[in-house]
Amino acid sequence: MKKIISVVGARPNFMKVAPIHRAFQNYKDKVKHLICHTGQHYDEKMSKIFFEDLEMPKPDFYLGVGSGSHAAQTANVMIEFEKVLIDEKPDLIIVVGDVNSTIACSLVASKLNIKVAHVEAGLRSFDRSMPEEINRLLTDSISDFLFVSEKSGLENLEREGVDKSKIFFVGNVMIDSLIHHLPKAQASSVLKDYNLEPSNYILVTLHRPSNVDSEEFSKKLLKLFNTLSEKRKIIFPVHPRTKKNFMSFGFKTENEKIILTDPIGYIDFLSLTKNAELIITDSGGIQEESTYLGVQCITVRENTERPVTVDVGTNQLIGTNLEEVEKAALKILNGEKKKGSIPELWDGRTAERIAKILVKKLS
Ligand code: UD1
Repeated sequence: MKKIISVVGARPNFMKVAPIHRAFQNYKDKVKHLICHTGQHYDEKMSKIFFEDLEMPKPDFYLGVGSGSHAAQTANVMIEFEKVLIDEKPDLIIVVGDVNSTIACSLVASKLNIKVAHVEAGLRSFDRSMPEEINRLLTDSISDFLFVSEKSGLENLEREGVDKSKIFFVGNVMIDSLIHHLPKAQASSVLKDYNLEPSNYILVTLHRPSNVDSEEFSKKLLKLFNTLSEKRKIIFPVHPRTKKNFMSFGFKTENEKIILTDPIGYIDFLSLTKNAELIITDSGGIQEESTYLGVQCITVRENTERPVTVDVGTNQLIGTNLEEVEKAALKILNGEKKKGSIPELWDGRTAERIAKILVKKLS
């Protein structure tokens, strides 16, 4: 019997590990699959609700690390996770994505000679001012199994000289979760709750430090919202980091067509994504989810580590100049929609492929 521990830490990790956990249930005689939650995200609406929505079991280990500077957060995860690994002696750990918990846990495991699998390997924004890019580069460089979600990842890892035998093009686990939970999302009442009509509102999410730590950005965003709200309702679930900053900048509105909410759970958010006419975001995952669903997406960043969403999907990389975002948004609202298709292997079976490969490699 092999023991595998998958790590979750921040909101975008939960929907990636849920299908992996499900896939390992088919190998119960061969693999004991455990989940460790670092506690990087801890608010009920950033964490607990996702376990419920995604039908995940309670984590086997909870490190309770919480927020802090990058160094403090990463270091605290390392200290706590090392204890778990020393006690449990797993054969392999699985890390997903690019958050601080991802690099912290892979570093601890690799120093204890425990094998590391990185799911969503090879993505590169080529922008080392983003903490996630550093986390991606470092995690990939010490991983033993690199599971890639899009072709650009293969090219990046090859260029970096990663041994081909470690790399597996398997598709996108986040899309596994989307496909699995779509029927429940169709039944969600969230549109009714916020008085929204399908294909007739704009969904906004913004949390990147490079955007939301700037007072000037928050002022321009309010101006953009006021302009766009003349055309459509806007719903903006606000990430805790964004809320904290924007409140200190005095960001507020009385405009009834601009709906500001707390973070929203997975199923309701999926419903909001599926039914939006347009999404404006700086998230990584939402670029992918909108591409799968064929929903128009404007990415408020200068680069993306997920170029397939632009090359093949419905995503447009507009940059952080909100005047350009306004122009692009108005074009879409006037009917100039970008056509897209679904990237290769985004078929809902990625976690099955990962589990099959790992079971074989570990036996
Ligand atoms: C993290 C990830 C980012 C991911 C994002 C999704 C890193 C470096 N960044 O960014 O890649 O896209 O999660 O949300 O790992 N906070 C709360 N409650 C929580 C969590 C956070 O109030 O449950 C607040 C705290 O003030 C905290 C701040 O948000 O200091 C930032 O949290 P942190 O985990 O450091 O990074 P995120 O911005 O959430």
